[in-house]
Amino acid sequence: MPQFVTVAKIGELAAGESVSFAGPNQKMIGLFRDGDEYFAIDDMCPHAGAPLTGGYVENGMVTCRWHAWRFRLSDGAWADNPRIKIGCYPVRIVGDEIQVELPNPTSEKSA
Ligand code: FES
Repeated sequence: MPQFVTVAKIGELAAGESVSFAGPNQKMIGLFRDGDEYFAIDDMCPHAGAPLTGGYVENGMVTCRWHAWRFRLSDGAWADNPRIKIGCYPVRIVGDEIQVELPNPTSEKSA
């Protein structure tokens, strides 16, 4: 069952900043602040694997630092072809904690 996990506290990220954290199965996920809103999407650009954290955040989008692909923070859609999406995770604020709903780890074992 998915669970909300605290990944940061209010005030730790300035507007436009982002931070990476390990999700289930060590998959890296990025927490982004756009204005006063927070979003969580996969922290790996599907183009060539760059982290999306540290990218330019504006108007609900993050721009990859390597080749400027842009992704919508609200659903992980690639701006140039919204049918292509990366993982996106619900975010909620509880008190001063920013929490992200993460899926359960899969039971896949690496060889
Ligand atoms: S790696 Fe992100 S745009 Fe190329």
